[in-house]
Parts: sequence; C-alpha cells; structure tokens
Amino acid sequence: MGIVNSIKFRASRQYSKFLKSILSFRAKLANSEKVVIWAAKSPRRSSLYYFLLSSSFDREHYSVLKGKLIHIKHDSSGISHDATLRRNIHRIEKGLTTIPLRKTFAQDYINETIYAYENMVQDSSDHNTLKWATDVLSLYFRTVDPTTVIEVAKKRFLQVKGTSINSVSNFIPYYRKDNVKSDIEFDSFQQLCLQRRSVRWYQDSKVPIDLIYKAVSAALHSPSACNRQPYRFVFVDDPEQLKIAGNLPMGIKTFSHNVPLIGILIGDLSAYFDERDRHIIYIDGGLAAMSFMFALETLGLSSCPINWPDIEERERGLEKFLKLKPHERGIMFFSIGYPLEEGQIPYSQKKTIDNIIKYHK
Ligand SMILES: Cc1cc2nc3c(=O)[nH]c(=O)nc-3n(C[C@H](O)[C@H](O)[C@H](O)COP(=O)(O)O)c2cc1C
Repeated sequence: MGIVNSIKFRASRQYSKFLKSILSFRAKLANSEKVVIWAAKSPRRSSLYYFLLSSSFDREHYSVLKGKLIHIKHDSSGISHDATLRRNIHRIEKGLTTIPLRKTFAQDYINETIYAYENMVQDSSDHNTLKWATDVLSLYFRTVDPTTVIEVAKKRFLQVKGTSINSVSNFIPYYRKDNVKSDIEFDSFQQLCLQRRSVRWYQDSKVPIDLIYKAVSAALHSPSACNRQPYRFVFVDDPEQLKIAGNLPMGIKTFSHNVPLIGILIGDLSAYFDERDRHIIYIDGGLAAMSFMFALETLGLSSCPINWPDIEERERGLEKFLKLKPHERGIMFFSIGYPLEEGQIPYSQKKTIDNIIKYHK
C-alpha cells in the first residue's frame, strides 16, 4: 500500500511539473512579439491565438454564453424574466410613436411579448414595469388594425386578470411639455461637470443610505439599450466588508483605508439573446454610473470611479464576495464619501475640444 501511494505521489508530482512547464511555454509564446504580430494579422489567427495561447477571454466567453442560455431558457420555459418584456414593450411604445403611425406592427413579436407578460404577472413584484407593460399593451391593441395574429394576442392579453383595452393608461407615450423641462441652464450644468472630479480622500463619516437611494434613483433614468437596464448597484459600508471590497480592485489600494462607502456596479448578461449585445452591460452601466456620480455631487457627496480589470484571480474574488452568478460581471467600483477639505484632487487636464471633435463631410 505504501509503495503504491509513493508511486502515485511521484507520478502526480511529475505530472504537475510537466503541466507547469507546458503552461510556462504557452505563456512565453503568448508574450512573444513575433507570435503577437503573426496572430494580429487576421481575425482567424487571433481566434487561434486566444484558443491556444491565452485564456484572457475565457471568463467573458463563458459569461456571455451562460447569459444567453439563461435568456433562451427563460423565453421558452415560462420562467419570468424581465429583459424580453422590457425590450418588447419598448419596441411597441416606439412603434406607437412612429411618424407616420403604421396600421399594424410588432406582429412578429407580439406573441412572445404576451407570453413574457403572462409570466411576469405571475412572478414579478416590479409593479411599475407591469403597469407600464399593461398600459402600453392596452394602447397597442386599441391602436393597431386587427390581424389574425394580433387578435389572438389580444385575446390572451385580456385573459390576464386586471387587463382591459379601455382602462386609463398613463405609462404611455406622451408629448414633451414644459413641465418636463429642467430649469438647469448650460452654465450650471457645466459647473457641475467642473465640480465633479475624482475625489479619493473622504471625511470619516457615514454616508446616509437615503442619499444613495436618491442618487441611484436619478441614475435609473439613464438611457439603456431597449430600456433593459441590465445592471444593479451593491453598496458596502460595514467596516469588515469594506476591508474585503477595498482589496478587490487594484486602483483603490492607496486610499481604500479612508473610504466610508464602496459601490459595485454589476452587469447581467442574461438580458441578451445574442452575443452581439455583449458590450451593452458596460455601455448602459457606464451611462448610469455617470448620472449616479453627478447626482452624488448635487447631494454634497463625492466619488471616484474604480477600474474593474478582467483578471481571473480578482474575478474569482468578486464572485465569491458577492456570490455572483456566472452570467454576472463586475463593471466598475466607486469610492464614495464626503470630500475631505484637506484632501487634494489631481488636476487631470482634459483634452482640447478641437482634438476630439470633427464634422465628417
Ligand atoms: C472606468 C474608470 C476607471 C477608473 N479607475 C480608477 C482607479 O482604479 N483608481 C483611481 O484612483 N481612479 C480611477 N479612475 C479615475 C480616473 O483616474 C479619473 O476619472 C481621471 O483621471 C480624470 O479625472 P477626473 O475624474 O477628476 O475628471 C477611473 C475612471 C474611470 C472612468
């Protein structure tokens, strides 16, 4: 028994040595300039490069595919999932605002929409989304010319409790009136842009939760592709948890010890049925992040966006910390707090406008 164990032990040591040398040879090849030049010559070569020599995109591939799978499963299995409903209701409200109004539209996805609606009505507690869907669908059925497909969908819609074609709808397209016009003049907005700077030094005082709710509620009005809003914000202010969160990204190392609140923006790749939309979590998330940081400034709070680089070891750390699902990805972190008067802010000169603007003729 002892001999067998010793043979097994030696064999496994030999094996791990062999594996290590293969991996280091692979890393050497991946970092060789000649190999990179060769691989960068065509998309096919670069795919081969990432398949054979680099695992840098592994997590992204996996997350995109996991998200797509969940999306497909939701759409076919009746498990409620709001991305399809939000996207389709938005397409319908866009159709209702098209000039000139078409007599019929959305026939190719109205059944899918009703299916998603039925499931959401059963499972979802998001009353606002449901009201919006109900109102837009009622208006749609009131507006379009009936076809066989539309009639079938309408019948199913009316079978859902609480629906009616003639109900008062208020979450529907509207005309822009003076009451939605802000009284912020350009100069004030520009001033806010100048005021918002990445602040890294904060007072030792807790950030009130209600201010964070306010800032996020403003951020929620940011545009997002097909109004899907594929992200969520997580906040950490517990001292012990702050220590863990402050060690996850690299760019917060020098000042994490004085940060009273860390925000983490998480993207959800299950909002998409196709790889083509894999970047949207970062675009939508980035837009929401900007509104969030502006809102914080108006509330007397400052922030600094913190990079979340795609480094496998750190990804695993974040996954464990927030118990993320495979289709969820970190977008960015924020440090947040009341600015410390004696803390300086890097000047960070911006580019000159003429260098970044061009009218293409
Ligand atoms: C996506 C993103 C990632 C950033 N990551 C970090 C970071 O890791 N650490 C840091 O101190 N600042 C970070 N910043 C802040 C930038 O350094 C800062 O925005 C830039 O220098 C311009 O300065 P300003 O924000 O004061 O205008 C990041 C900003 C963005 C938008």
